[in-house]
Amino acid sequence: IFLFFFLSFHTGIFAYLNYNVPRTRHEILCMLVKGLQRLEYRGYDSAGVAVDGGNDKNWEKNFKTIKLIKKRGKVKALEEEINKQVDLDMEVKFECHVGIAHTRWATHGEPNFVNSHPHRSEKKNEFLVIHNGIITNYKDLKKFLESKGYEFESETDTEVIPKLIKYMYDNRESDEISFSTLVERVTQQLEGAFALVFKSVHFPGQAVGTRSVAIIEHTKRVIFLEDDDVAAVVDGRLSIHRITRSASDNPSRAIQTLQMELQEIMKGNFSSFMQKEISEQPESVVNTMRGRVNFDDYTVVLGGLMDHIKEIRRCRRLIVIGCGTSYHAGIATRQVLEELSELPVMVELSSDFLDRNTPVFRDDVCFFISQSGETADTLLALRYCKGRGALTVGITNTVGSSISRETDCGVHINAGPEIGVASTKAYTSQFVAMVMFSLMMCDDRLSMQQRRREIIDGLRVLQDQIRQVLELNNQIQVLAQELVRERSLLVMGRGYNYATCLEGALKIKEITYMHSEGILAGELKHGPLALVDKMMPVIMIVVKDPTYVKCQNALQQVVARQGHPILICERNDEESTKHAYRTIEIPHTQDCLQGILSVIPLQLLSLHLAILRGYDVDFPRNLAKSVTVE
Ligand code: UD1
Ligand code: BG6
Repeated sequence: IFLFFFLSFHTGIFAYLNYNVPRTRHEILCMLVKGLQRLEYRGYDSAGVAVDGGNDKNWEKNFKTIKLIKKRGKVKALEEEINKQVDLDMEVKFECHVGIAHTRWATHGEPNFVNSHPHRSEKKNEFLVIHNGIITNYKDLKKFLESKGYEFESETDTEVIPKLIKYMYDNRESDEISFSTLVERVTQQLEGAFALVFKSVHFPGQAVGTRSVAIIEHTKRVIFLEDDDVAAVVDGRLSIHRITRSASDNPSRAIQTLQMELQEIMKGNFSSFMQKEISEQPESVVNTMRGRVNFDDYTVVLGGLMDHIKEIRRCRRLIVIGCGTSYHAGIATRQVLEELSELPVMVELSSDFLDRNTPVFRDDVCFFISQSGETADTLLALRYCKGRGALTVGITNTVGSSISRETDCGVHINAGPEIGVASTKAYTSQFVAMVMFSLMMCDDRLSMQQRRREIIDGLRVLQDQIRQVLELNNQIQVLAQELVRERSLLVMGRGYNYATCLEGALKIKEITYMHSEGILAGELKHGPLALVDKMMPVIMIVVKDPTYVKCQNALQQVVARQGHPILICERNDEESTKHAYRTIEIPHTQDCLQGILSVIPLQLLSLHLAILRGYDVDFPRNLAKSVTVE
């Protein structure tokens, strides 16, 4: 039997297995290098391989060590490095052997030797892994493993995987355990997107691969792995298992310990997941941009849209569809999308869009924003648009979700798992994803280069600015104490910050059960002003963008009715603050990014109000994280 298997997804993963077909080490390494060369067109910045070490004539004795060769740069450089290996006898023949190879495109950590794949469990190379994709919960896993004494050598998300499998192996309940069972246990703990291949000294001649749009070439037959499939080659025979993710059949104590400790680690010192997720935003927005925005040459590449961007640029109209917070992310970025794409943009609530039987045409491009990727109304809207021939694009946080799978293309926002029902970090990441898309739409427009650069410079410092806003936490907690007994809160603003008002009010209703309304300041005179008196707290967002003067005007109106405006404004805005009852000062950024900073005080305010009122912040009454029914 002769077998080779090959997995690939964006960056290159390649594994070669020969069984009962003698191959010299030289031939094996050539095959691995050739495999990597086939993937070169995908772009990468380092490469590596792992093969059995040892030079014994009896090849079976060589299973005990694994040789790892990695190099920054091109596959050619790796090949030269391979040729330099003086401790490897290239003529040793293996009846049976597993070799793994990888080309990496740096996302977590710069391209260098330690960050390149394969990654290892420890210095003895007991378990090796090549990975493509992103592990969004790697920090929690890393903390857990560090607490168990594992020492990490790289900055990658991947390194948790070989260490986790070693942990599972060391804590196995019996020596009979199979390689694929260990891999299943590991993948059950991973969040994110991944295609993986494992190799181990403990399972000589065996290769196990899993998950995420992977391809296995089995002589001339190709097998597509589905999510959660684990493919194992043992004794030259390929088998594919489905993982069942039921918590009840956790087989060993090690996993229980891991899951319990992991939950603790995940929540950390935070009182709720929502609080944790709010404070993760400096990192989650960076994760959304990671590997996509190049701050040196001002380019933005959304890998998931590359194949369709020409078609998108040719369309007649963009339609952005979502529910709840995801809909607000569409409202928040509509203006910048209109400006940079120069296309008409409609933003729609999924349910209403369907109720209206909205006309959709083949030359429309429809965006579906959804954290979970499973929201029923959004999914139905997607199928509706697909049925009418429009190109469909997903903006989702959940790899492998229905929306991610059923759209023609899309962007994973990579914000990491969001557990609190009230969405926070997903919103800011959806926002950033839509801004990146807008930037991608105009990268060839000469007249827009200046504007593009300013926005990209704004994105560059976003992380620090979000940190500065988070420092207002104590001040906002005090404000929450003042407001906790109110029955209603109005949130007013306009322009780029209208969405902030809608989203802030939604956060307040969702978890504090207070009435709250987001009001477009331009509509004030057309009704809402009647609500304003000296009893009514009004939160107003007044920032120095083109609507500044008009917002000042609205502020005057509120003051004139003895209202007590609580202002979210930029630092040093004396003109606005002199009328304010309370002020929350945020840093200045580009007009179209300001909404990312201005929403955070409202996330914090709703959190503190809910805590003070004694409600369960993460699981508000009557609401569900993922609404999978109409
Ligand atoms: C991909 C990898 C990422 C890796 C990067 C660089 C995955 C999931 N992503 O990211 O880990 O760091 O290459 O090599 O492995 N898609 C949809 N609908 C959606 C969302 C996405 O169809 O709602 C599709 C995209 O069109 C694309 C694929 O899913 O084909 C992955 O999308 P995304 O993760 O955004 O792509 P990259 O940023 O290229
Ligand atoms: C639910 C959630 O209502 O669905 C909200 O409670 C969320 O937080 C909305 O905004 C839409 O969900 P998704 O997953 O499609 O973004």
